Amino acid sequence: MSFPIVRMRRLRKDENLRRLVRETNLSVDDFILPLFVRPGENIRTEIKSMPGNYQLSIDQLVKECTEARELGIPGVILFGIPEKKDELGSEAYADNGIIQRAVRAIKEKVPGLLVITDVCMCEYTSHGHCGIIKNGTVDNDETLVFLAKEALSHARAGADIIAPSDMMDGRVGAIRKILDENGFSNIPIMSYSAKYASSFYGPFRDAAESPPKFGDRRGYQMDPGNGAEALREVELDIKEGADIVMVKPALSYLDIIYRVKNRFNVPVAAYNVSGEFACVKAAELNGWIDGERVMMEILYSIKRAGADIILTYFAKDAAKLLNS
Ligand code: PBG
Repeated sequence: MSFPIVRMRRLRKDENLRRLVRETNLSVDDFILPLFVRPGENIRTEIKSMPGNYQLSIDQLVKECTEARELGIPGVILFGIPEKKDELGSEAYADNGIIQRAVRAIKEKVPGLLVITDVCMCEYTSHGHCGIIKNGTVDNDETLVFLAKEALSHARAGADIIAPSDMMDGRVGAIRKILDENGFSNIPIMSYSAKYASSFYGPFRDAAESPPKFGDRRGYQMDPGNGAEALREVELDIKEGADIVMVKPALSYLDIIYRVKNRFNVPVAAYNVSGEFACVKAAELNGWIDGERVMMEILYSIKRAGADIILTYFAKDAAKLLNS
């Protein structure tokens, strides 16, 4: 059968019809909101390249989390800006580090909200790399010891999910092992499995004050030209015990999200990263695009590609629209 019996436009003519046949459902249930926390009190410093996002002191972070919970957002992921940085990133695994204190405060004051912690060294090291430097390069196996310590200290503080983003080989296994040995066998790991060496992280590095002081991250993050390699990364992480696997960034890697979802039977997360957010905001502020519609189109595309979970700086705005 074909035209004129078939007319595809019949089911597009009004919004109720479109709602009935829409194949992808986007919901506030899908979102995780990334938040940045720093020491101090009553601090709410807007991140220039990420309008509407802030470096927050713990008291303000608690407010932001309360708002997220009221909007129905299931969880937040935390990034810390420490008091001071050093070669070994000591604050990453300190009992009274910024993340550890923030987690305890949210767990106490905002029950019913999932707290996910990003496990990485780059925000805490003076050189800004994601691990321990030996002979001028990030030493994989030495770094694993530190990442495991960091993950354990997050779990002890009360984190609900541990999310390693460093891209060292073997880190999911190392983290699973230390968590299990210390009575945290029920804490899931959401691994940044296919994390690309992307220039879309620019604004985040301003927000977290974490750009590398020398070189770049191409020696450990993935090459943007590769696809099959992402499937290998995901497979290894699942074997090491990852409960949720992530593709990051989302938009230039929708094909990777699609392939991962089709190949593996595990929940897939996608990180709609800072640069993707910043591009939309900048164009919106210039009056060049309808920011709200572009936001929803982007979120639909990530869900349609196969993501079960979307980490996004749009979480609050999208939740407001979806709830209204
Ligand atoms: C590393 C980390 C980064 C992001 C999340 N975790 C930055 C990096 O690898 O340089 C980027 C997130 C974003 O751009 O929104 N701790």
